[in-house]
Amino acid sequence: MAETRVALVTGGANGIGQSVAARLARDGWRVVVADRQEARPDHPARCVEADVSDEAAVSALLDGVRREEGRLDALVSNAGFMVRKSLRDLALAEWNAVLGTNLTGTFLLVRAAEAMLRAAGGAVVTVASTRARQSEPDTESYAASKGGLVALTHALAVSLGPDVRVNCISPGWIETKGEALRPEDHAQHPAGRVGRPEDVAALAAWLLGPESGFVTGAEFVLDGGMTRRMIYAE
Ligand SMILES: NC(=O)c1ccc[n+]([C@@H]2O[C@H](COP(=O)([O-])OP(=O)(O)OC[C@H]3O[C@@H](n4cnc5c(N)ncnc54)[C@H](O)[C@@H]3O)[C@@H](O)[C@H]2O)c1
Repeated sequence: MAETRVALVTGGANGIGQSVAARLARDGWRVVVADRQEARPDHPARCVEADVSDEAAVSALLDGVRREEGRLDALVSNAGFMVRKSLRDLALAEWNAVLGTNLTGTFLLVRAAEAMLRAAGGAVVTVASTRARQSEPDTESYAASKGGLVALTHALAVSLGPDVRVNCISPGWIETKGEALRPEDHAQHPAGRVGRPEDVAALAAWLLGPESGFVTGAEFVLDGGMTRRMIYAE
């Protein structure tokens, strides 16, 4: 019998990461979640509290996977957050914190996981954003971090291939907080609705699986068509 594949999902205590972890567990993966927040007690993964922007914490996290699971076939680098502040009010510490988690975290994770991922012939999925390519005001650190992550994805794909495939999902609006959505929120999307965490999980599952074997270094925009829509003021 083939050994159970192991996946590490960062930021998996909530939102998109939680949905990715649940989907992979349902698909038969052994899942480890790393988050700086505690996960729900009924979470279907082994949950580790770790800050992905902290080099020592990432190193300890991957040592733990090596010790406990003994292999790593997939990494979903999903942990991320946004600071919305005017340029004038954005402190250097805040800029560094956003870059530290959203961009540097992926570098630290993949570097620490490289040997296990290569040994397994594994795959990495990074989670960027449509904000890598378009912006609202006051989102400089987030946009820069996600643009960097798209570039880091193709750099890693070239360095780690052919052993490891590395792809990026850039979600648009994914409702994760259970907020009430208005009909116009859905209607503005060419797909007719706002995205769900399960939409990201389904694409991640495919990108980590054997059917995407010819796909690497790619960015998948998952936004219900929003960024394809041309908008002029009336
Ligand atoms: N929800 C959206 O509309 C949307 C759109 C585009 C991109 N994204 C991206 O998707 C990813 C997940 O977003 P979400 O909406 O599920 O957010 P969320 O806030 O619901 O979940 C993010 C999780 O990441 C964790 N986290 C943050 N910083 C961390 C760190 N340094 N170390 C470990 N864990 C950390 C948080 O504790 C949280 O559990 C993020 O990278 C986000 O930028 C989300």
